[in-house]
Amino acid sequence: MRQMVAIHRFRVAVGVCALIFTTALFTSITATQRVAPPGDPLPGLTVAEFEAFRLGLDDFLEVESAEEGLGPAFNGPSCAACHNVPAIGGMSPIAEVRAAKRGPAGEFVALDSSGETLFHLFSIPNHGCQPVIPDDATVIARRIPIPLFGAGLVEAIPDETILALEDPFDRNRDGVSGRAAIVRDLGTGATRVGRFGWKAQHATLLTFGADAYRNEMGITNEIFPLELAIGISSAQMRRCDPIPDPEDRRDPRTRLRGIDNFESFMRLLAPVAKLAGSTNIADVAAGEVAFHAAGCAVCHVPVLMTGPSVNPLFDRKLVPLFSDLLLHDVGTGDGIVQASAQAGEIRTPALWGLRLRRPFLHDGSAATIDEAVRRHAGEALLARRGVERMTPQAYRQLLAFLKSL
Ligand code: HEC
Ligand code: HEC
Repeated sequence: MRQMVAIHRFRVAVGVCALIFTTALFTSITATQRVAPPGDPLPGLTVAEFEAFRLGLDDFLEVESAEEGLGPAFNGPSCAACHNVPAIGGMSPIAEVRAAKRGPAGEFVALDSSGETLFHLFSIPNHGCQPVIPDDATVIARRIPIPLFGAGLVEAIPDETILALEDPFDRNRDGVSGRAAIVRDLGTGATRVGRFGWKAQHATLLTFGADAYRNEMGITNEIFPLELAIGISSAQMRRCDPIPDPEDRRDPRTRLRGIDNFESFMRLLAPVAKLAGSTNIADVAAGEVAFHAAGCAVCHVPVLMTGPSVNPLFDRKLVPLFSDLLLHDVGTGDGIVQASAQAGEIRTPALWGLRLRRPFLHDGSAATIDEAVRRHAGEALLARRGVERMTPQAYRQLLAFLKSL
C-alpha cells in the first residue's frame, strides 16, 4: 500500500507539471477559438456542413409516430426528448432501465438468449409488445443520458491515443487499472476502441445513433435491422409491428437516412466552453491544482488530441474533455455486462460542461457534484482519500474548479 501511495504521488507530481502545460494550452484554445453557446455547431463550418447540421437537427427534433416506425416499445419519441438540457444535444434527468440476474456465483446472467438487457419505458397502446421485467430479475440498473456537445471531437480521437492510456494490470501500481473497451463496430465491421456510452459500448456516432434509433425509439435501420423486445416472440412482434424493417428509409430528396442525419448533427455540435469571466478566478486556479494533486486527472485526463484529418474542424484539435475514455471500476458499477464492459465498469465521463448538467453519475443517483466526488471508491479510492485529506478551503476551491467546467 505504501508503495502504491508513493507511486500515486509520483503520478500526481507528473500531473501537476502537466497542468502548467495544460493551462498554457487552454489559454491558446480560448485565444483562438470563438466561444459558442451550447447547442451551436463548431465554429468554421462550410456551407455544406452547416446544411448537414441543420438537416440533422431537424431529424434529431422530429417526433416520430407509430406509422413512421416508432415502437412498438420505446423510451422516447425523439432524440431531443432525452437530449435537451440546457440545449438540444444535451441531457435530461430521464432514466432508462436495464435488467439482468445474478448466477450462483454472483456472476452476470442475461435474462434471455439475446444477451440484451434494455427494458423499454413505453409502448404503442394495446399491442401487447411492451417487454415486462421478469420476476427472476435480480439486477435493475438505471442510466441517464449523456450530453452530445463536442461528440465529433471525441470521435476523432485515434484509438491509439486511448490505448496508450490504458493500464489494465495496474503495472505502475497506482491503484488505477483503466481498460480500453475493444468493440466490433457494426457500422463498418472494424475492431475499434469504444468511447461512447456509459459502458463505452460504441466507437462511432453513426453506430451509436443507429443503436439509439432502434433501442430508444424502436426504429430499425440498416445497422440494427431487428426490433429489440426481450421476451416478445418474433410471431408476436410481427403482429405488433406490421411496418417492414428497416424502418429508417433514405429520404428520396437528400438520399440520406435518419441515422446519417443524426451523425452529422452530433459530429458538428460544438463542445461546451469553460465558464468565461468568472469572479473567482483565483479559487478556480487553485482548485485545478487540487484536482491534479488528488489524482483526479489520472482518469479525468484534461486534454486529448484528435488525429490528422483532411477536415480542418477535426485536424489535430485539442479536446479538453477531462476523460481518458477508459473503463474503470470506481465502485459505482451497474451490474450490467455490455459490449466490452464488465458489470462493475463504467467509462470515465467527460467533465466538460459539468456545470450545466445534473443529476450526476451514470444512474443520476448523485444530486450534487460533491456527492458524485464522495461516491468514488474502487480504483478511485486514493483520489477520494486525497479529497478527504484536503483542507475545507482546498475542497471548496476544487468544487469551484469543477463548477467552472
Ligand atoms: C429515452 C431517452 C433517450 C432517447 C430518446 C435518446 N437517447 Fe441518447 N442517450 C440516452 C441515454 C440513457 C444514454 C446513455 C446510454 C448508455 O450508455 O447506456 C444516451 C447516450 C447517447 C449517446 C452517447 C454519447 C456519449 O458521449 O457517450 C449518443 C451518441 C446518443 N445518446 C444519441 C442519441 C440519438 C441520435 C438519439 C435519437 C435517435 C437518442 N440518443 C435518443 C437516452 C436517450
Ligand atoms: C479511477 C478513475 C477515476 C478517478 C481517479 C476519478 N474519477 Fe471521477 N469518475 C470516474 C468514473 C468511472 C465516473 C463515473 C461513475 C458513475 O457514473 O457511476 C466518474 C464520475 C465523476 C463525476 C460525475 C460526472 C457526471 O457526469 O456524472 C465527477 C464530478 C467526478 N468523477 C470528479 C472526480 C474528481 C473531482 C476526482 C478526484 C477527486 C475524480 N473524479 C477521480 C473515474 C474516476
